[in-house]
Amino acid sequence: MNQFYNPVAISFGAASAEAFADLLKKRYPDIKRVLLLTRGAGVEKSDCLQPVMNMLSTKDTNLVEVTLNNPNVADILKLKQEIEPFDYELIVAIGGGSVMDAAKVLSALQSKTYQTIDEVRAAITSERYREEPSYTPWVGIPTTSGTGSEVTCWATVWDEEYDSKYSVSDERLYASAALILPELTVTMPLRLSVATALDAMCHATEAYWSVHTNAITRVYSLQAIERIRRALPLLIEQPENLVWREQLSLASLLAGLAFSNTRTTACHSISYPLTMLYGIDHGIAASLTLASVMRHNLAALIEPDKLMQAFGAANVDEVDQFIQSIYNLYGVSSRLGQYGATVEGIRHLVSLSYTKGRMDNNPVEILPEELERILVSLL
Ligand SMILES: [Fe+2]
Repeated sequence: MNQFYNPVAISFGAASAEAFADLLKKRYPDIKRVLLLTRGAGVEKSDCLQPVMNMLSTKDTNLVEVTLNNPNVADILKLKQEIEPFDYELIVAIGGGSVMDAAKVLSALQSKTYQTIDEVRAAITSERYREEPSYTPWVGIPTTSGTGSEVTCWATVWDEEYDSKYSVSDERLYASAALILPELTVTMPLRLSVATALDAMCHATEAYWSVHTNAITRVYSLQAIERIRRALPLLIEQPENLVWREQLSLASLLAGLAFSNTRTTACHSISYPLTMLYGIDHGIAASLTLASVMRHNLAALIEPDKLMQAFGAANVDEVDQFIQSIYNLYGVSSRLGQYGATVEGIRHLVSLSYTKGRMDNNPVEILPEELERILVSLL
């Protein structure tokens, strides 16, 4: 079925910042209180953000720095308690995936007060937030290029106590609007740059082969992969080169659009316990199994030649070589053993790798024995 839906009003590039601010003025002329979530380090003072900040200066704006990484249920409770009783009517999130995910969760949970972590956990796992007649609108301004959270309608919340990862998900959780400013990513550390670019590469590739793929999402996927493949090896020479940063920001957006309609598949499903148990950066964790899963899915791929071409590769081995070359270039370890994984721990890893709504999106079933073999080969 070739259908595509994404309601986010997208503005790209510093020249669009003024128009983005005007859009907010038109959409929300009467709101008085704005919750401004930022990743910290004074990002809101960036020149390219001034049209937005000028617009916010006319409102009662509560700036809260969200410096946490991969928010968990305890972080959400703390954040909610820190913000209350400020009764915000709009959330502006300036940051990476964690900040935008926090915005979505606050948007979904705003109307209720929570006293304990258990209450937050129950609200998320029971999906009771979906009974809300409406959510607080939010807008996203990413400062990394990879998550795609500004154009997806779900957020990830972690729960180390239960070795779990939850999704807060609803079609009404799409951002009202997103402003993508590659200028904000110029100072991103190289390690984060490569991790987020690999995340976007996985979003695009997994959208390409997801059971929900279609002719429209695949165009976004191929465009995203090709741009990352060309720009990522060059970034290390000139990390502040805006041309490469623009390409990676655009690729991240295109990948986000692609997987906003398909969700991710096996690579992401397997990545969650890798991040939870061994602290592997999300994008790197997802990319570690990309070539293995591609090999596994090969027979089910639609137009596999186009996918290989986007990677500049003739076959899966060359895709694998490309990913390894990126790891080598940026000093990223490709061995699970170096992150702390052991042969004895692989079964536990396998048991946590089957996330509903992710693993079952993979076009070819991966049996636990097969996954065990893949993970052992990566030790
Ligand atoms: Fe991801």
